[in-house]
Amino acid sequence: MTRFPLTPEKFQEQLITWQQTHGRHDLPWQENPTPYRVLVSEVMLQQTQVTTVIPYFERWMVSFPTIEVLAAATEDEVMSHWQGLGYYSRARNLRKAAQYIVDECNGLFPDHVETLLKIPGVGRYTAGAIASFAYNTYGPIVDGNVKRLFCRFFGVDGVPGTSKVDKQLWGLAETFTPTRNNRSFAQGLLDMGATVCKPRSPNCLECDFQEYCLAFKSD
Ligand code: ADE
Repeated sequence: MTRFPLTPEKFQEQLITWQQTHGRHDLPWQENPTPYRVLVSEVMLQQTQVTTVIPYFERWMVSFPTIEVLAAATEDEVMSHWQGLGYYSRARNLRKAAQYIVDECNGLFPDHVETLLKIPGVGRYTAGAIASFAYNTYGPIVDGNVKRLFCRFFGVDGVPGTSKVDKQLWGLAETFTPTRNNRSFAQGLLDMGATVCKPRSPNCLECDFQEYCLAFKSD
């Protein structure tokens, strides 16, 4: 990778416009995206598909509508809502996260990437997602979808998951993430990865970014 196929400003403008016209707008966590709802949905979505997560997310919000209710719930109550989702440490961590915010932050949800990272179980991706989706502010995100999209688009060589490549991918995310319209931008990255720049048969011919994409150019 020598230089960028287009400027961060152009990339942001084009992705935000694409998301607003072609992206997803009816996912349950997009409605009233409070930091608590974004945290719960993003943790559920970490290892689980959207269609599986939706009913779990909706039941969770009925039983634990606020962070205070979750913090006061027993571990058994919390775990019973996770039955079938797998990776059960995610549920234990969500309860610990709620207790941390209620007990250590006076119930005030942190609102920047650095302070979000102090929440138990919250890593760089989730912190960036909460900043973007809940606060609509700067929050770089790199998950499996973004890795695939960036590797193709920017022509990143090497194996995603290795520290050298992941460092490059996070660097790209930091450079290309805007400081406004972050909700549309972050959702645009995930929506592109899910609907256009798919793992097996990407819809390159319909892709708005085709002319800049290094993987497309090099076939
Ligand atoms: N995968 C991870 N986060 C997501 C989100 N907010 N919307 C859709 N898919 C996702």
